[in-house]
Formats: sequence, C-alpha cells, structure tokens
Amino acid sequence: MIGLFDSGYGGLTVLKPIIDILPEYDYVYVGDNARTPYGTRSQETVLHYSRQAVDYLFDQGCTMIITACNTVSALALRTLQQEYLRDKQVTDKKILGVIRPVVEYAAKHTKTKRIGVVGTTGTIASRAYEIELQKIDSSIQPYSHPCPLLVPLIEEGWHHKPEARMILKKYLRPLKSANPDMLILGCTHYPLMYRDFKRYMGSRVHVLHTGNIVAESLRDYLERHPEIEKKLTRDGTRRYITTDCPDAFKKFGNAELSLSIDTVKTDAIW
Ligand code: DGL
Repeated sequence: MIGLFDSGYGGLTVLKPIIDILPEYDYVYVGDNARTPYGTRSQETVLHYSRQAVDYLFDQGCTMIITACNTVSALALRTLQQEYLRDKQVTDKKILGVIRPVVEYAAKHTKTKRIGVVGTTGTIASRAYEIELQKIDSSIQPYSHPCPLLVPLIEEGWHHKPEARMILKKYLRPLKSANPDMLILGCTHYPLMYRDFKRYMGSRVHVLHTGNIVAESLRDYLERHPEIEKKLTRDGTRRYITTDCPDAFKKFGNAELSLSIDTVKTDAIW
C-alpha cells in the first residue's frame, strides 16, 4: 500500500495525478485537518506531527509513504528518512517527498536558469527549494516568495473570486520582475489556482504543477526499483482518513478534484 499524508486537503492535488497514472495500487491518504495549516508552524511542530503521520501509515501497512505536503518535505523529510530508514532500521520501506522530483525537472528544463518558487511561509523560509536547485546546478538563480494568504482562501472556496486574484497578483509582482522562465508551485494548494498563476506570469513562464511531476517521477521510480514495486499491493483500493470533519474533506476532494470519494473516516493519528 502507498500512503500519502498532508496537513489537510492539499495533498489531494498530489494523490489525484498519481491515481490517474498508477490506478492499480492501493492508497491510503491522511489529511491532518484538525491541525492544519502546517505552513506557519515551527520546524519542531511540523516534525512532531509528521512523525505521528508516518507511524500511523506504517501501522496501516504502507510500504511506501509520500509526504504530499511541501512544508513537510521542506522541514521534516530528511529527519524522517534518517530516523526511520537508518536509525530504526526500517530498511524495507520508503519515505519520499515532493520537492526533489520537481527540482530535478526544473533544473533539467530551464533555459535561462532563472527559476521562481512560491510556497508557504515555512517552505520559503527553509530555502529547501533554493538549496536543492543549487545542489543540482550552482548557476541556477532561484527567486522565491511566500504566498501565505492563498491556502486559507482556497480552503474557503474563495480562489475564483477577484479578491484572491488581486492578492495573487501582488504576491507574484516581485517574481515576475525577476523574469524567470519557470515558476515552481511549491505548495499543494496552488494548482487549484493554476490558471491564474499562468495568466499572471505570462505565456513565456512555464508554471510547474507539482502533483503531475511527482506522479511521473513515482512511475519512473517504481520502474527502476522492482524490489519496492513488487511489495506494493494492487487491488485498486483508496482509503481516506482525516483527523477532523469527514464531510468537509469529502466535499473538497469531490468538488475541487473530482476524486469520487465515497467514504472518509475520522481517526486520531496522535
Ligand atoms: N500542504 C501545505 C504545503 O504544501 C499547505 C497547507 C499548510 O500550510 O498546511 O506546504
């Protein structure tokens, strides 16, 4: 089974393209809606919550966990990998994040080596994208900017309103003037405003949809690692778990991402 977790609904933008191209596997998704958002919290808190989600998903029988949250991938992934895979000797399982595949894609496809990055306050402050981009190619110039108001606006269903577009435009102004040829949407929620990002950045800027790139990269990873792939169960099941209100979770997943979610279970992961 493949487990994904996020602070809430956002990681569904990662799950959806994964299910679309790899429908045969079993998936369990945990949204920690009771404690969302993670993007404004300290590294210690994000790590603490993430350990609980990882313990929960391994207990459910997952062989592979994807931290389908940029803030978790930026602030906690490396520690989680060290703690579980090295110290606790969980060597037959994997924990993967969402930053590395996107950074690899961006570094490979940029022509001008000027790359914009947007994300939560925590992700941008961590400089995780910048560090990873420059590790691959030190001549890349990253330009990053936090967009903290977008997550609550999207969760409120306000993202198609002119007020949300106005705020987005203001956030993107400094990035646009840096003249990048790519913009990384380094937050799970932002693909829900994908068209607005594109419209404002203009046709010469390639806006990267994290979920689509992560999905392609997972497919490639499973092809290259048959020893992991053969441990994954393949009954095409999907389980959705939230730490808060199941109805709100279901509504968001179905209305925004057409996921055809039937049942959402509430469970405490702590
Ligand atoms: N899922 C988070 C991320 O991708 C956004 C929501 C939050 O702040 O918890 O960074």
